[in-house]
Amino acid sequence: MTHILLRELDIPDIGKMEVYLANGGYDGLKKALSDHQPDDVINIVRESGLRGRGGAGFPAGVKWSFVPKDVFPKYVCVNADESEPGTFKDRQLMENNPHQLIEGALICAYAIQASAVYIYIRGEYWDIADHLDRKIAEARKKGFIGKNILKSGWDCEVYTHRGAGAYICGEETALLESLEGKRGQPRLRPPFPASEGLYAKPTVINNVETLSNVPYILVNGADAYREIGEGDSPGTKIFCLSGCVNKPGNYELPFGGETTFRKLIFEMGGGIPDGKQIKAILPAGASAAILPATDEVLDTPIVYGAFRAWGTDIGSASVIVLDEMVDIAWAAKKMINFFSHESCGQCTPCREGTYWLSRLYKRMDSGQADAGDIQTMDAVAAQMEGKCICALGEFAVNPVRATIKHFPEDYERAVGNGRLSRR
Ligand SMILES: Cc1cc2nc3c(=O)[nH]c(=O)nc-3n(C[C@H](O)[C@H](O)[C@H](O)COP(=O)(O)O)c2cc1C
Ligand code: SF4
Repeated sequence: MTHILLRELDIPDIGKMEVYLANGGYDGLKKALSDHQPDDVINIVRESGLRGRGGAGFPAGVKWSFVPKDVFPKYVCVNADESEPGTFKDRQLMENNPHQLIEGALICAYAIQASAVYIYIRGEYWDIADHLDRKIAEARKKGFIGKNILKSGWDCEVYTHRGAGAYICGEETALLESLEGKRGQPRLRPPFPASEGLYAKPTVINNVETLSNVPYILVNGADAYREIGEGDSPGTKIFCLSGCVNKPGNYELPFGGETTFRKLIFEMGGGIPDGKQIKAILPAGASAAILPATDEVLDTPIVYGAFRAWGTDIGSASVIVLDEMVDIAWAAKKMINFFSHESCGQCTPCREGTYWLSRLYKRMDSGQADAGDIQTMDAVAAQMEGKCICALGEFAVNPVRATIKHFPEDYERAVGNGRLSRR
């Protein structure tokens, strides 16, 4: 397959400006500026059906169309926080094909008439931030960034901003608070960022992978993009494959059709190490509900919404594979400890719920839990649902409720036994 995103697999050194330019680089931006009004660009992206790759799958062009035309300045924020456990695709895109992201972000900025792009990048990626700074300087030299870009009369700057290692700062409104120099805590909505975002001005926030698709769409058109993928899930997706699998890594595949977990895990990923059986799949890191690895789950073509019947979705597609040796209650404990640590603390159900859940798992671990504790865990998680400011509170429910539902035997074994472990 030819890649739209991981182009370095087809064209070595695509990250170098001269190689990128020789292979159609910045043609999307040139086309946008010379052939299209800003609104036309929004329409093209809307018609392409491109959906956000940061987790929620919201249509990018629709989001851009919400930005008011008559309020200035406007901003684009690139979400490069990439903190979901098991997610490592944005890193590869920024390391190997940075100009594609910069170009996509500039096309978005032109479409909404923004004057600045902020790439908010997780603090641990300090070296990638330095790398991006060098690439931004190269693009400025070529006239793609700065004043009067490509003699269009439109000005736009691009900056990187390093986070400080908080998972919650990947949530878009916490990201904005952090970018403004405040404590990174999510905002109440409405107002939504499209109308009141960074410094209370209209702002589009998109994930790195989302924006990296945009140059292809501008060059090839919305119909060409829709020809890849399936139905309301056009294009390709990068799956970050990790866990109990022989060949972990990033794999770019078209949505739908032959793209299934079986293909991803057993063909691309080389199967499970040591001839072990697959037990479960976390389709989106710690955030989305666990899937038992049944034949039906393994053979379902992957599109947005394909796993709705199981109460889960692919999110940012950080696929973590768990084999028969993994105690699912142990895995749930690790995920709850993560959410308890990362809760920003402003909503009582999330702050207290994740704290008490982690205490209950600790109790189970020490062999002091009784059967009633499993019901208590489920009840505590259930009471968090729908009561929080941001989705972290909802994410934290999944590791508990879905694992108790699908793998009750792992919890029952832990009662009285203690010592949750990988086995
Ligand atoms: C707790 C939490 C963490 C998140 N972390 C990220 C992240 O690291 N990267 C990301 O792109 N989106 C993350 N999101 C989703 C963003 O809030 C937002 O939906 C996304 O940046 C929108 O971009 P998209 O439409 O291109 O997907 C997170 C959401 C929540 C609730
Ligand atoms: S749900 Fe949790 S992380 Fe989100 S705002 Fe509330 S306390 Fe903070």
